[in-house]
Amino acid sequence: MVAVRVSCRINGEPRQADDVWPGESLLYVLRERLGLPGAKNACEQGECGSCTVYLDGMPVCACLVPAGQAQGRDVVTVEGLAGGDGLHPVQEAFLAAGAVQCGFCTPGLIVAVHDLLARVPQPSDPEIREALAGNLCRCTGYEKIMDAVRLAAAGGTT
Ligand code: FES
Ligand code: FES
Repeated sequence: MVAVRVSCRINGEPRQADDVWPGESLLYVLRERLGLPGAKNACEQGECGSCTVYLDGMPVCACLVPAGQAQGRDVVTVEGLAGGDGLHPVQEAFLAAGAVQCGFCTPGLIVAVHDLLARVPQPSDPEIREALAGNLCRCTGYEKIMDAVRLAAAGGTT
């Protein structure tokens, strides 16, 4: 196997990772090579959504994306959603609604909710549930998460 260099834009900045092995996931490269631990590694099987990031504007499970597929593309992680002025309104809504306990699922949920509200600014409850069906939380019960999404939508946050 031959290690390769992967170059892409991450959160608007050109970044590169060297010595990437063919089997490495984008999640591994983000967390272990590029110092971006926001996306979480819970299942590594595409089952939990805790590793959700944008790849060319589409939410993906970074644990399922071979790092080489990010070559030349745009990646946005949860770290890239907060602006210079502080937390993103979706992040604020999660805090305000008490939708964060251990926080392990939160980064993936934030990206998924950010994507939902960009597409559907005033989602119905079924639309929220469908959009978040791939993001598992072990702690909060989902009603607080629903509250957070409703709060973010009411604030016109994206
Ligand atoms: S760690 Fe990627 S979906 Fe669970
Ligand atoms: S807050 Fe702990 S897994 Fe969701």
